[in-house]
Amino acid sequence: MGKFIINGGKKLDGRIDLQGSKNSALPILSACVAVDGISVIHNCPDLTDVSAALKILECIGCRVKREGSTVTVDSTVVNRFDIPDNLMREMRSSIVFLGALISRFGAASVSSPGGCEIGLRPIDLHLSALRRMNVRINETGGVLECTTDGLCGANINLSFPSVGATENIMLASVGASGETVITNAAREPEIVDLADFLTSCGAVIYGAGESVIRIKPCRKLSSAEHTVIPDRIVASTFMACVASAGGKALIEGVCREYLAPVIPVFEAAGCDIAFRKNELFIKAPERLSRVKSVVTMPYPGFPTDSQAIIMAMLAKSRGTSIISEKIFENRFRHVPELIKMGADIRVEDGRVAVIEGVKKLYGANVTSCDLRGGCALAVAALGAEGKTVVDEIYHIDRGCETLETSLSQLGAEIKRE
Ligand code: UD1
Repeated sequence: MGKFIINGGKKLDGRIDLQGSKNSALPILSACVAVDGISVIHNCPDLTDVSAALKILECIGCRVKREGSTVTVDSTVVNRFDIPDNLMREMRSSIVFLGALISRFGAASVSSPGGCEIGLRPIDLHLSALRRMNVRINETGGVLECTTDGLCGANINLSFPSVGATENIMLASVGASGETVITNAAREPEIVDLADFLTSCGAVIYGAGESVIRIKPCRKLSSAEHTVIPDRIVASTFMACVASAGGKALIEGVCREYLAPVIPVFEAAGCDIAFRKNELFIKAPERLSRVKSVVTMPYPGFPTDSQAIIMAMLAKSRGTSIISEKIFENRFRHVPELIKMGADIRVEDGRVAVIEGVKKLYGANVTSCDLRGGCALAVAALGAEGKTVVDEIYHIDRGCETLETSLSQLGAEIKRE
């Protein structure tokens, strides 16, 4: 298991590039299965989660090639609709292959993803929507056997705007015979990116990015070329690194609109932020101010994926900040690790963290428990006095392509061991 060794206390200064979005790349790669042709996906980040998706594509018969950040998927030769359990387990979001397989084959056999490190993450919304679309689902021994004698469009009202369920429904709908209307759909930028890819393949989709999405019946999809959107969560992670360590940075390749939910939090903490085209400039204050309240919500609310890094940054602010986690039930696992570094944080009812800002954090031996929680430890370490060892960084590698390279470019002392 790799570790990051970080010597904190150095102000950052420099410019870095932003990677493509993991949460866009994964459903788009699975969408390649719903398409009959050779899809070319640019700006595809090099992450272990993306490698897991590519392994699944290869396993079901696709020919896959990566050249730099461009991935080519030839799905003309796809010949299986079952994904082995070991591949499903490598990545929880592999469940998004379900809709794509049903769309292409009218059948899918995948293992149920079960719980994960940040909470239970049930898939009841995915399954009930597919049932409404005339899919029969039998769950035996943890395997979901899905078949249909004809996918039908349906009116689906989600009780919660689940990102994964919205994606699975969209992917199944492009192979359905009638119109599908998703009400209370997720509005995340990654949904719009998936819709853009499917549209360039010939799908007819209205309303992506809004609460009601309409997917019209269409002819068989043909392949397309697509560029994945920038990763808004990694952008906010770099911003938190600068805020925590002090200094300034220019982040290239951002989309300003996607960052709108997080900018007010950085500004309330005292950071100066400016945009020019697709560049973001951030300058940290001498000491961060507290942020009275941060509440995670579905987009366009504050993202749950940026919650941990904001907490790490606020640990050293002046005053008391309160963070409420409204999306996942187990997303404060970084708190005990931040406390090892001298943070004063208490969790109330499992969902609210009260952060009493301290003057200094100190290097310590800490362990990543999940992807974003691991990034939070790096954020805190950059602003801490002395050496921090962040263990189990395979979690971080699932979603951050070049954390140590990018941070080194900003002048941070960080190395992988
Ligand atoms: C996606 C993102 C993840 C992000 C999350 C919320 C990917 C690969 N992952 O995950 O990084 O943190 O959105 O923005 O894009 N739920 C149910 N039943 C369901 C589905 C979801 O109860 O059938 C609940 C979940 O337990 C959770 C909430 O809904 O409490 C949000 O989940 P969802 O939006 O589905 O997240 P993911 O798609 O898994």
